[in-house]
Amino acid sequence: HKKLKSFPKDFLWGSASAAYQIEGAYREDGKGLSVWDQFVRIPGKTFKGTNGDVAVDHYHRYHEDVELMAKAGLKAYRFSIAWTRIFPNGNGEASAAGIKFYSDLIDDLIAHNIEPLVTIYHWDLPQALQDEYQGWESRQIIPDFVNYAKTLFENYGDRVKHWVTLNEQNVFIQHGYLMASHPPAVKDPKRMYAANHIANLANAAATKYFHEHFDGEIGPSFAYSPVYAVNADPENQLAADNAEQFNSYYWMDIYAYGHYPDAIRQWQEEQGIAPEITAEDAALLADPLARPDFMGLNYYQTATVQANPLADGIGLAPENTTGKKGTKQESGIPGLFKSATNDYLQTTDWDWNIDPVGLRIALRRINSRYHLPVLITENGLGAFDTLESSHEIHDDYRIHFLREHVKAIHEAISDGVQVVGYTTWSFTDLLSWLNGYQKRYGFVYVDRDEQDERELARYPKDSFYWYEQVIATNGEDL
Ligand code: BG6
Repeated sequence: HKKLKSFPKDFLWGSASAAYQIEGAYREDGKGLSVWDQFVRIPGKTFKGTNGDVAVDHYHRYHEDVELMAKAGLKAYRFSIAWTRIFPNGNGEASAAGIKFYSDLIDDLIAHNIEPLVTIYHWDLPQALQDEYQGWESRQIIPDFVNYAKTLFENYGDRVKHWVTLNEQNVFIQHGYLMASHPPAVKDPKRMYAANHIANLANAAATKYFHEHFDGEIGPSFAYSPVYAVNADPENQLAADNAEQFNSYYWMDIYAYGHYPDAIRQWQEEQGIAPEITAEDAALLADPLARPDFMGLNYYQTATVQANPLADGIGLAPENTTGKKGTKQESGIPGLFKSATNDYLQTTDWDWNIDPVGLRIALRRINSRYHLPVLITENGLGAFDTLESSHEIHDDYRIHFLREHVKAIHEAISDGVQVVGYTTWSFTDLLSWLNGYQKRYGFVYVDRDEQDERELARYPKDSFYWYEQVIATNGEDL
């Protein structure tokens, strides 16, 4: 066995969440509506029509939640700010009540020795900006996004030292503009690449503004699923390389280097779907001040692919986001790659591959391609949990999942990768965007289901006590 280095002394052991998935209070204190407030009301879009109107009521119970975090010994807590609480219409005048809510939360965390890690954008775009100029499809969003980020830096920058700009740009853009499974429910690759390019510009502009005016660290959170070839056939290896470029380097190269991979640019031009890149765009993206200080990594699983000959090419299909186990569809890009089954891996209740070694591979690939420190901003297991009559939850499957992933991080650190923290998904149970409340990720069970909010009582699961021990021993006792 490899001799393992220790976890860094100041390693940020924590958990993560997102505003729409926990806060509720969707119309309180002047909050504006977001595209998610609207999208969930379209029949058939989410499991049993669930929404975040009440969610797990964190807006009113944040103090109780912070006390539970302190009890578990969390060193850090990653949460997102709802743009519509700060600017109900996306721009214009900031809301004092919105600014105060997050200021109080930040103070409460710090009073409990928990470092706040703030995500600026976790998908809940103000509906007003969607209506006004089609949100991410307009360049008007760039100054609005920078102004929103600036307002957060000015109000919280004295206490917040780690910022995440965009959460999973690859996910909200592809689901929103290619698969139509997220708002604004468009299926159009040309519009998808155009909106994505504008999101890159907004991300670069906000990062640059931060570096010019504030101290601290800033970076995106990227949903990275490293790709394997189904076997050693060079055609399948090439397909894996294609998938890695199209699914991941297309985003991470922009963040880290400021330019798109050539092979994709070439392909987009052949297809007539290349985004327009002006000379100013290229200069902004390449600006050294637009570089992230870390790569945020959301890791859930790996992907496995095979060659996808043009003639019988499988096109892009929605991922199995709401589906039951065993309903996964083939997907890919004709001529480049298509999905394959990995016979070596088991899957979760929602058919996601379980692959802790893939996390070590993800960390090493990011390290060797980008030479950036990595902040693991999400990782966790979505599963059905059972609340016992004693109010206990015996989630040994979650403990097993997390233990194997912590081991993988430990090994990657020992390989030389600089990992600064690990915020698991999630602290309390919360709303899964498309899968309702039955798909649970938390260390803390929240007693509600799709139809019935019940008392929304919080009960620590077995995994809560396990994580407490992991943190107390800085990752030595798993
Ligand atoms: C990530 C998101 O994609 O995965 C989270 O950043 C999300 O917001 C998490 O909840 C788990 O996804 P799901 O579909 O299981 O809820």
